[in-house]
Amino acid sequence: MGWFPCSGQSSEEIKKRKKKEALDPIQPTSEKFKKNPPSKVKDSAKDGGSGHIAAQTFAFRELAAATRNFRGDCLLGEGGFGRVYKGRLESSDQIVAIKQLDRNGLQGNREFLVEVLMLSLLHHSNLVNLIGYCADGDQRLLVYEYMPLGSLEDHLHDSDCADISPGKKRLDWNTRMKIAAGAAKGLEYLHVKASPPVIYRDLKCSNILLDEDYHPKLSDFGLAKLGPVGDNTHVSTRVMGTYGYCAPEYAMTGQLTLKSDVYSFGVVLLEIITGRKAIDNSKTAGEHNLVAWVCALSLSLYT
Ligand SMILES: Nc1ncnc2c1ncn2[C@@H]1O[C@H](COP(=O)(O)OP(=O)(O)O)[C@@H](O)[C@H]1O
Ligand SMILES: [Mg+2]
Repeated sequence: MGWFPCSGQSSEEIKKRKKKEALDPIQPTSEKFKKNPPSKVKDSAKDGGSGHIAAQTFAFRELAAATRNFRGDCLLGEGGFGRVYKGRLESSDQIVAIKQLDRNGLQGNREFLVEVLMLSLLHHSNLVNLIGYCADGDQRLLVYEYMPLGSLEDHLHDSDCADISPGKKRLDWNTRMKIAAGAAKGLEYLHVKASPPVIYRDLKCSNILLDEDYHPKLSDFGLAKLGPVGDNTHVSTRVMGTYGYCAPEYAMTGQLTLKSDVYSFGVVLLEIITGRKAIDNSKTAGEHNLVAWVCALSLSLYT
């Protein structure tokens, strides 16, 4: 298995570099998506109302100005596809998060297009809001609402407190359940309310972002796929995702279903409950993989 493309240089400012394990290169943007995009399913009043404004286009210089030329002290984090900076838009005085995709050619561009299309069409209080994007020359940037508490991953892995980011406090049980319920609502929206349904394919703790009240929002839709319609039970695709979160039957067959996301949700739920990472090679053999460890533990209860 290879790694997700990860061409950004490592940086002093980034506390921990997160590597995403890829199972294969990204699936090209689906023809089906172009012909049959998901309908605009608005957030229901029950879900909190969307207050959505259509994604704007930005010039590169506006985003460079917003981040003081992508200065190191504006860096929020780095993932497999680029760096995320905190910025202030001069035009609206709004604080935003700006993701600058690595310029690694077609692959990053496809992910960029899928993310812009998906987040322009899908709106829910448990999905991150895309404010706009920039496609100046070979630059590809995404402008999101700023989520002040960062990602769930920054708050979670706390068995010895070593992994909790500075300034973050250990999550109490109610907050953990609130985050799990909110992530489930976001997923339900993608699976049940969007038409055709959307398979997220990248559910993991680092993609669950938190606002100042620990209200969770799913982010990173570059791997999302339209789900099966009619009598079809699955979508056949090259296998993509993050090692530790990817449903084994999808990894083995390439047959993607809505249930692949439900498997990933189960892994996230185990992380929320145990505070352990999905994959942790610093643990002893037998405890590297959270799901395998939990399965062995549950079996031992019955023997
Ligand atoms: N909208 C946002 N608001 C605040 N922080 C963000 C936002 N988007 C991303 N981040 C931070 O940047 C980090 C890197 O994000 P990303 O590039 O999506 O990679 P990954 O999901 O692998 O961590 C996240 O883990 C999070 O801490
Ligand atoms: Mg992310």
